[in-house]
Amino acid sequence: MPELFDIIRTTRAMRRLKPDPIPDDLVRQILEAGTCAPSGGNAQKWRFLVVKNPETKQAVQRLYKRAYDEVIGPRYATASPPPGSDPAKYARQHAAVEYLTEHFHEAPVWIVVCQDDGTTPPTRGAGASVYPAVQNMLLAARALGLGSTLTTRHMMFAKEADAALGLPENIHSYAILPIGYPIGNFGPVGRGRLEEVVFSEKWGVPYTS
Ligand SMILES: Cc1cc2nc3c(=O)[nH]c(=O)nc-3n(C[C@H](O)[C@H](O)[C@H](O)COP(=O)(O)O)c2cc1C
Repeated sequence: MPELFDIIRTTRAMRRLKPDPIPDDLVRQILEAGTCAPSGGNAQKWRFLVVKNPETKQAVQRLYKRAYDEVIGPRYATASPPPGSDPAKYARQHAAVEYLTEHFHEAPVWIVVCQDDGTTPPTRGAGASVYPAVQNMLLAARALGLGSTLTTRHMMFAKEADAALGLPENIHSYAILPIGYPIGNFGPVGRGRLEEVVFSEKWGVPYTS
């Protein structure tokens, strides 16, 4: 098994996945890693829905694609490459995003990350209690040789998506992790330099070590 820092550096968005089934014990290990994460007050209001049913996934994929067609696709077409990327890499990212959009429902397993929000609408604070679990699961999947991507685009049509997933009123979805064996290779993530985003003592003073 790769060392932790290797896993962290190579857990990139794996959007091209094989439709082959995944053993249930691996899915269980990923879920257990998720529930090791912190949550506010250790309240653990996260809930996870494991979805394999093709019709359920397809219903959500239609919304996911609609959001791509109406918002995400046009945005990618005009945006500049982010830090640590370049036009060629960004074009490859765009192609992979488009690929996942078309094939979202073909990932053999989805983990839909939800939270029991009671009668309160989802807030930023509520999200802070579920995304650590999401990252734990992405790292665990990577360690097990499985690819995934943190996706939230379905939330552009949150009500419709939650209804398609059959969630009760008090439960909201915060992310969908499509999981499968990757078609491509894991590789280093591309990010900007530390000095550009870390300051020392005073805002704007570059951090040096
Ligand atoms: C809050 C959030 C939402 C995201 N939603 C989506 C999504 O809906 N679809 C998608 O393909 N990628 C999604 N991503 C993945 C990012 O695009 C990805 O992490 C980023 O491009 C870096 O990719 P890399 O780790 O391969 O370099 C999301 C990431 C975050 C943090």
